[in-house]
Amino acid sequence: MVNVPKGTKDMLPRESHKWQAVEAAAKKITALYNVKQIRTPVFEHAELFLRSIGDSTDIVNKEMYIFEDKGGRKMALRPEGTAGVVRSVLENNLCETLPQKVFYIEGVYRYEQPQAGRYREHHQFGAEFFGSELPCFEVELLSMARDFLKEIGFNDLRLRINTIGCNECRAEYNKALRAFLAGVNDKICGDCKRRAEINPLRTLDCKVPSCKEIYKSAPQISDFLCDNCKQHHKQVLKGLDAAGIQYFEDKNLVRGLDYYTRTVFEFCDGDLAVLGGGRYDNLCEQLGGKHTPCVGFGCGIERLIAAAETRGIEFADNTPYVFAAAQCDSARETCADIVAQLRNIGVSAEYDLMGKSLKAQFRYADRQGFPYVITVGEAEMQSDKYTLKRMADGSTTAIGAARLAQDVKSAVEKDRAQS
Ligand code: HAM
Repeated sequence: MVNVPKGTKDMLPRESHKWQAVEAAAKKITALYNVKQIRTPVFEHAELFLRSIGDSTDIVNKEMYIFEDKGGRKMALRPEGTAGVVRSVLENNLCETLPQKVFYIEGVYRYEQPQAGRYREHHQFGAEFFGSELPCFEVELLSMARDFLKEIGFNDLRLRINTIGCNECRAEYNKALRAFLAGVNDKICGDCKRRAEINPLRTLDCKVPSCKEIYKSAPQISDFLCDNCKQHHKQVLKGLDAAGIQYFEDKNLVRGLDYYTRTVFEFCDGDLAVLGGGRYDNLCEQLGGKHTPCVGFGCGIERLIAAAETRGIEFADNTPYVFAAAQCDSARETCADIVAQLRNIGVSAEYDLMGKSLKAQFRYADRQGFPYVITVGEAEMQSDKYTLKRMADGSTTAIGAARLAQDVKSAVEKDRAQS
């Protein structure tokens, strides 16, 4: 028996309605914001991720699934969605008219130590907006994220927000941070010692508790922001206030990818980020395109569903409607015809495909959660009269053959409206 790879999970049929509900919410809300879907390959040239996410990040250093293809090219499974989308938008010249706004729902691969909420394959609903450096770009994106979370049923996820400045103010900040890190060099972990040299900002993202404690007294970026970055951040917060989006400022939020400039944010469930993103004004240029300011987010669907379930948020399940049970073999064809008529008018229906006895068919219908069963036997076929049984209480309604599908539909709808 070969098992599912460590850190991955099957999406089983009994859970599919949750995934469908999340995807339906994503599609509904993105449509309201005129954001179109994009799909990019699950693997890309590894270099794309080195050049975008950054070679001092854990994602690139430790977590990428890298392989050489048969042509000797170094490829990687995507460890996040943004880089591939930016590559595609540039390659396909999608920035001719701005803004360009896209969303994606896709699998993402990171070789992480599996634990609750952390998998080697996870799925993201993500969005990337290209083209504007105005603070309203962040506000529009965060409004869409808030509406999406609300559509699922959340109203209590906390939005943490921070600014990490632009390249200029960050250069000043890095100097101060390096000086601080030099003073605590003997107390920080090996990874942080390395980060301190290559990209000191990364140290603030360290998960080691003793490092986290030390960095509480590190210099803060907010003290190094240039006037433009300060002003931008102020305007973003003002826009969030106007849009009624609640947030709290977290000066230590830096996020684990190198491409961000200015705004970074996360919607969190306790300590775990469910949706995270920010502004990345330099990435298009870094990948060979024109300077194009951008904002985006990625939402982890596994974490989103888990957070919803702990809150008792229910996902609508498309329960089946009507089961047509055959009393004898000759009735099976009529059952097939009845379910076809029902499906034609949008009523989900099924009949027995296994040659089960009538009793076993009723048992199956009950277990599957069919609220109604219509029984077809010799007598029904001859009289053209059928009985629709309501499984909850055993009550029955007589239905004529002439308008069978419509009458079953109205009986079911009337019953549902009353209950
Ligand atoms: P990220 O924060 O690395 O950002 O991932 C986005 C979300 O994916 C996280 O908030 C979390 O919910 C989920 N996630 C990440 N890693 C895992 C994992 N191992 N297992 C389960 N869920 C996980 C990005 O990926 C950026 N591309 C977001 C972005 C888009 N920034 C700008 N545009």
